[in-house]
Amino acid sequence: MITIVGAGSSLAGALIPLLIDETDEPLHLISGRALPFEDEKIQTSIIDVLDKNALKTSIMEAMPNTIINCAAMTSVDRCETERNMAWSVNVTLVENLTRMARIVDARIVQVSTDYVFDGLKGPYAEGAIANPINYYGKSKLAGEIVCLSGSNAAAVVRTNVLYGTSKERPDFVRWVLDALDAGTPVRVVNDQYSNPTYIEDLADAISRIVMRKRSGLFHVGGADYVSRFDFAVKIAEFFKGDVSLIRAVTTAELGQAARRPLRGGLVPLKTETDLKMKMRGIESGLSSVRHAMLSK
Ligand SMILES: NC(=O)c1ccc[n+]([C@@H]2O[C@H](COP(=O)([O-])OP(=O)(O)OC[C@H]3O[C@@H](n4cnc5c(N)ncnc54)[C@H](OP(=O)(O)O)[C@@H]3O)[C@@H](O)[C@H]2O)c1
Repeated sequence: MITIVGAGSSLAGALIPLLIDETDEPLHLISGRALPFEDEKIQTSIIDVLDKNALKTSIMEAMPNTIINCAAMTSVDRCETERNMAWSVNVTLVENLTRMARIVDARIVQVSTDYVFDGLKGPYAEGAIANPINYYGKSKLAGEIVCLSGSNAAAVVRTNVLYGTSKERPDFVRWVLDALDAGTPVRVVNDQYSNPTYIEDLADAISRIVMRKRSGLFHVGGADYVSRFDFAVKIAEFFKGDVSLIRAVTTAELGQAARRPLRGGLVPLKTETDLKMKMRGIESGLSSVRHAMLSK
């Protein structure tokens, strides 16, 4: 049995179909809301994951051999202003899940971010020293630490700028395409760098970590290192939209609540060597997005 916490997240939307195809394991989904998945291998618990007793009951009933945590407060600016909630979701929940994993003797996979780094000299390999500059990054780093120090069967998978075909939440690609469709100009930062990650590559890496029973830190990031502005231009070009609607701004001009690491991104060293994955670049990722859009 594999338990997926935060089963309503964008990531889980890619991970659940993959695990149904690639493993014989039944899946136990935990979410705060009703989910669209239907399969004989799936059982679902709709609970508030911040309710420790409800979480414990659900996990003790399922007795999973693996817990994958996709739940997180992912809005970087909200984390800055709603710090108690950010800590509850990004740290306390992970601490509780790690303890429960130990009790039922399950492995645990925690998903994290390149925002644990300060962005002075990315992209970063797994051995780089973390130094978060905003509360989201601080809480996610604390989540990594409680997970890795609380279990000797724990893996932490860091990723950055996810995009794909999620129906759950609009991602960066969807946001740009919607603006282009509406003919609305979009202001995109030209000084924040990352290697955008096709969400199914992340799901694939997590599936390999689970099946190969891997522990420790893994970085999952796409093959192309670009600024957000360059990414938006590539999206517009690929989908034959009006590139002139993409307008460059600096991070300082945007004046967001939380500071952003500028040169972020991740070198997927262990993912490519140990997990034997080849990360796709933007062109290939956008082809997959288009293919999925056309087959809907
Ligand atoms: N998206 C990115 O670009 C990105 C980049 C780097 C790292 N990551 C990491 O990747 C993981 C998955 O990200 P994602 O974008 O797929 O997440 P997402 O779509 O924002 O979903 C997060 C899920 O967490 C749960 N959640 C959020 N706030 C909660 C609260 N207050 N109480 C209880 N549950 C709450 C919800 O699960 P239910 O709907 O099931 O209740 C929600 O669907 C996270 O660990 C994130 O930090 C994402």
